[in-house]
This record gives sequence, C-alpha cells and structure tokens, in this order.
Amino acid sequence: MKLPKYDENAKVRPTDIVGRSGTEARKIDFSDIPVIDIGAMLDGDDAAKAETAAKVREAAINVGFFYVKNHGVPEDVIETARSTAERFYALPEDIKNRYDVMKTKRHKGYVPVGGLSADPSIVDLQEGYEIGLELPKDDPDYREGSALLGPNVWPEELPEFQSDIYRYFEESMELGKRLYRLFALATAMPEDYFEPMVTKPCAQLRILYYPETDPKDAKIGIGAHTDYESFTLLWQSESGLQVQNRAGEWIEAPPIEGTFIVNIGDMMMRWTNDLFVSTPHRVVNTSGKKRYSMALFFAANHDTVVECLPTCHNANHPPKYPPTHFGYWIENMHSYSYAYRWDERGHLPDPEEAAQELLARRSG
Ligand SMILES: [Fe+2]
Repeated sequence: MKLPKYDENAKVRPTDIVGRSGTEARKIDFSDIPVIDIGAMLDGDDAAKAETAAKVREAAINVGFFYVKNHGVPEDVIETARSTAERFYALPEDIKNRYDVMKTKRHKGYVPVGGLSADPSIVDLQEGYEIGLELPKDDPDYREGSALLGPNVWPEELPEFQSDIYRYFEESMELGKRLYRLFALATAMPEDYFEPMVTKPCAQLRILYYPETDPKDAKIGIGAHTDYESFTLLWQSESGLQVQNRAGEWIEAPPIEGTFIVNIGDMMMRWTNDLFVSTPHRVVNTSGKKRYSMALFFAANHDTVVECLPTCHNANHPPKYPPTHFGYWIENMHSYSYAYRWDERGHLPDPEEAAQELLARRSG
C-alpha cells in the first residue's frame, strides 16, 4: 500500500518520535508505570482526592502513563463489550466492510487494515471500530458536516454490538469525567474547571482488533505516535503496548487485571505547558494471540480553546504554545492517520488561527 507523502515541515503535524524502528521493548520494572487507586474520586473526601491528585501529578510528570484501579467501571460491562467485539471481528469481511468509514466519510464505523497509519509512514496491522457520543441526525454540528459529531453507525448483523458497546462507552465516559476532575486538582485548578468544556465532547471510543502473529516475527500493530486528545483510557486483553519513557527507551505496558491504563495526550500537554507530557507509544502484538483493546480518546467540546493553565506558567516560565482549537487539532491529526481523510491534509482550518478567531469573537 502506498502512503501519501508526509511533509515533515508542515506547521501542523504529528509529534516527531525518536527510535521508531524496531519492535523490541524492555520488560516493565515494578516502579516504571505506577498503579494509582482512584477510588477517592467516587466517594472520597477532599483530603483523599488531593492525595490521589498528587500521585497523578507525579505520574503525569515523570511517566505520562499510569494504571488506575477502583475506577468504577463495572467488570461485567467490560467483559460483555470485549466478547461482543470479538464476535464482531469474527464476522465475514464483506459484512464488516459495509460499515467502512471510507463510505460514510464520517468518523464512525469500521476501519479495515490499511485505513489507519498512526505513524504516517507505516500501515498498522489492526482493525478498528469508531464510536462517539450518540447524537441525532438533526444535530446542528452533524448537519454542518462535522466528521466527529453525529449519529453512530451500528452493524445490523450483530444487534447487541450497539447496546453492549454503547454501555461501555457511557461507563468509560463517566470515568473520563472523573479523571478530568483529577487532572484539574493535579494542576491546582478548581475540581470542576474542565466541566463546561465536556458538555458535548468529540470523544472517540475505538474498539480494536490485532490479529495473532508469530511472536518471533511480530509486526507493528500501531505505529509510534502520541495521542491527540486530552488523555486516553485503555483496556487491553493481551500485552503488546509499548511506551517510550523520558529516556527514550521503549518499555512494555502489559494489562493488569482490574485496571485501565491512562495516558496523557497532546492537548493536556499544551494545557500544562509541557509539565505533563504526551508520551509516544505503539503496539506490537507479541502475545501470539488475537489481541483486543478498547481505547477511549477523551477529548473536549469541538470549540474548546486550549490555553496554558494559569497555574502552569509564570514570569520565568511563559507559555510555550499559542492557544489552539481542540476540534481542529484532532481533525488535522486525523488527516495524517486515517486514510479516509488523507485528501484533507493541509486543507483543514489551522487550529491556532481558528483559536485566535474564536477568542476574538468571544471577547468582542
Ligand atoms: Fe495511542
């Protein structure tokens, strides 16, 4: 498959990743990726929440990845979604292809092998299914042609896919909102700071399937990249996720029962002036089994302007980035990674200019 030319000098482009080549990773040391109990966000007092936020802050600064336990998502919801996803990917190709995002040109539905290149120079060996907030056909953003906001596309041949996967989406969105509160506290902002920005988020749940490959000849399942949104919540059935630590080495991030993995995305990095880092990662399915994962890319409302938080800059550390537009940042990044949007690369609104326009309109 021929990938389009990638302009490395473009103003808006994905994060450059060092050490892209190879598939090796170091086995995890106990302390490399911390496991944080976030039960306090469900029923804790302010002191317990502050203690949890301090751990999140440390992990977000030092690693960019952490596991969360006592997360509040019922295990049966996760297990039901996983087994339904497994049945979907076992469907014949011609059925799955009926829901191809190439046909809908919206960010909902099936993405076959060849449809995604998270590292714009590699075709990923995985299939995916994209789900977002369920909105009606007369939703104003959808009617204006938004690729990110609108009704979902559901496979008729597997009716339980809609109910089981959407239940998982809703539960993981609730967890995402608890995490936003935690990130607010971790940056010394009011706990509800992000709440007005997530009333209609263009958050995206991607249900993934990585075919089994010979572990001795494992292929890149998803190429090295950073996530574009605020943070990602990942559940995975098998090992395969590799995370690049600040020393530039790849380390394995295997599944741990009863947990999700959380990683910082590009927009949280900008909000925090690089205090929290959007960490490069990739997947190499070395498990020798079929691998399933469910990744919720927790974004914010499309028209959110991401500006350095007041607690993350001072006279000695001015903001490193100009304000940017959340929705257009994601759309530009999608034009690098999703084949169905390649022809829009370089033609979408510049997120920094769009942010300036919005700020001018809001102040005037
Ligand atoms: Fe990712």
